[in-house]
Amino acid sequence: MRLSTLLFLFSLLVSPCSADLSAKVGVNYGTLGSNLPKPFKSVKLIKSLKAGRVKLYNPDPDILNALKGTNLQVSVMVPNQLISNISCNQTLADEWVKTNVIAYYPETLIRYVLVGNEILSSTADADKKVWFNLVPAIRKVKFALKSYNIRKVKVGTPLAMDVLESSFPPSNGTFRSDIARPVVRPLLKFLNKTKSFFFVDCYPYFAWAASYQDINLDYALFRGRLTYTDPHSGLIYTNLLDQMLDALVFAMKRLGYLDIRIWISETGWPNAGDIDQIGANVYNAATYNRNLVKKLTAKPAKGTPARPGVVLPTFIFALYNENEKPGPGTERHWGLFYPNGSNVYPIDLSGKTPLTYYRPLPPAQNNKPYEGKIWCVVAKGANMTELGSAISFACGQGNHTCDELQPGKKCYKPNLLILHASYAFSSYWAQFRKQGATCYFNGLAVQTTEDPSYRSCNYPSVTLSS
Ligand SMILES: *[C@@H]1O[C@H](CO)[C@@H](O)[C@H](O)[C@H]1NC(C)=O
Ligand SMILES: *[C@@H]1O[C@H](CO)[C@@H](O)[C@H](O)[C@H]1NC(C)=O
Ligand SMILES: *[C@@H]1O[C@H](CO)[C@@H](O)[C@H](O)[C@H]1NC(C)=O
Ligand SMILES: *[C@@H]1O[C@H](CO)[C@@H](O)[C@H](O)[C@H]1NC(C)=O
Ligand SMILES: *[C@@H]1O[C@H](CO)[C@@H](O)[C@H](O)[C@H]1NC(C)=O
Ligand SMILES: *[C@@H]1O[C@H](CO)[C@@H](O)[C@H](O)[C@H]1NC(C)=O
Ligand SMILES: *[C@@H]1O[C@H](CO)[C@@H](O)[C@H](O)[C@H]1NC(C)=O
Repeated sequence: MRLSTLLFLFSLLVSPCSADLSAKVGVNYGTLGSNLPKPFKSVKLIKSLKAGRVKLYNPDPDILNALKGTNLQVSVMVPNQLISNISCNQTLADEWVKTNVIAYYPETLIRYVLVGNEILSSTADADKKVWFNLVPAIRKVKFALKSYNIRKVKVGTPLAMDVLESSFPPSNGTFRSDIARPVVRPLLKFLNKTKSFFFVDCYPYFAWAASYQDINLDYALFRGRLTYTDPHSGLIYTNLLDQMLDALVFAMKRLGYLDIRIWISETGWPNAGDIDQIGANVYNAATYNRNLVKKLTAKPAKGTPARPGVVLPTFIFALYNENEKPGPGTERHWGLFYPNGSNVYPIDLSGKTPLTYYRPLPPAQNNKPYEGKIWCVVAKGANMTELGSAISFACGQGNHTCDELQPGKKCYKPNLLILHASYAFSSYWAQFRKQGATCYFNGLAVQTTEDPSYRSCNYPSVTLSS
């Protein structure tokens, strides 16, 4: 056999039949940071990761222009707020596609249009109304693309794992009953008919952090020899991600759809977090993402136990640490890069760098939960002019949150803004943490293990114990 014939046969073996299905790993380009590099620089950084794809949360013209002429496949997103209007207005769908896809196509390799973001996760009444508009909107976007004669672009919607009411054991995977029939079934029908994907945001980090006593960290980080055997299917799992994805496979199967392909629209691991959060560090983040890339780019494809050998296209979350995201500290620390463009840890998304090539990582400090007292105080560099309204908010939530700050009370003197703010933050957080309050205040507040109390003024604290 001639060498060229051999190479040809070899390429048949290693390259999947459809370009859509290549194992290229992508990255989510979120922009909720005040200090992020410009699109042009960002595209350079994405290329430096050897990413194959990039997913955008809004169709930013500057970003879409910066992606022109690159070989990065692009996913654009229809914002949640437009879903309802688009669902009942084909003209609007056509216009959206014209403005946000056609205007850049094909120089920008737009390949995916995602309609909304995790819209089935919110159960507020106003948001629930949008659920039923989701699939109609998706259909209209697909129709719009077709009318512009674009057939390569897949349409879908990224959903979170909370669409499942049961995910354990994986064979018990079941969609929530409030959405299964009215929303998920028509969605699956659409995805099947158009050969699109079930886009899912899948975070073993959250599953592990919520049950760290029951789930082995190595199992979440694709490490170690631990396995779990599903008692009903008999399938043997070696990592948490596979287990979560297969729960989705079984849930789809329950609704009668056996072979809709899965696309991981987000996954990742936070590189830092708050003191009261566990396992968010550079060591774990690098370990998760590097091992993930190794799994995703393995040839032949690994798939999951329920779907061995199937390619799992994936967008890692995220390109940057984004400082404008609210919520706990982990929210602002999913990035592969800091805003200044330095990498948080080196990673090669092509999977061609062997894991042994990377230098040792800083050791993980917080794989066990912190035990002891934590206070919530004014962060270094906080904007003093914003502290006043933050104090008002903190003191206004409870009944006696700031009693000690009143004239004549123990914490009134010295009457310094920064001391009063730290007291108000600590008192508010100590009172409402159990209900989900965070110590953040738009970046004005930060957790500390150093007691800020002075003289007879005791700052309330949160006490953590195992
Ligand atoms: C949706 O349509 C209504 C009525 O045409 C309009 O008032 C509203 O501003 C639209 N919403 C958005 C987000 O465009
Ligand atoms: C549909 O959308 C188009 C384009 O935005 C708008 O001009 C039109 O008024 C909308 N139709 C309805 C019924 O809202
Ligand atoms: C299987 O899922 C159902 C809900 O869909 C749940 O009630 C049941 O507890 C689950 N079984 C196990 C063993 O977790
Ligand atoms: C899914 O699509 C295939 C062909 O694309 C079709 O044969 C099959 O019947 C569809 N499945 C369902 C449940 O509609
Ligand atoms: C970039 O920012 C990170 C985090 O703040 C810092 O550790 C690093 O030294 C910075 N790199 C450069 C080149 O400034
Ligand atoms: C501080 O906050 C005020 C009010 O929000 C704002 O006008 C000002 O620009 C901020 N200063 C800095 C240095 O960010
Ligand atoms: C404040 O006090 C009132 C009356 O005692 C009580 O009903 C309410 O729940 C309290 N609010 C908070 C936030 O603690």
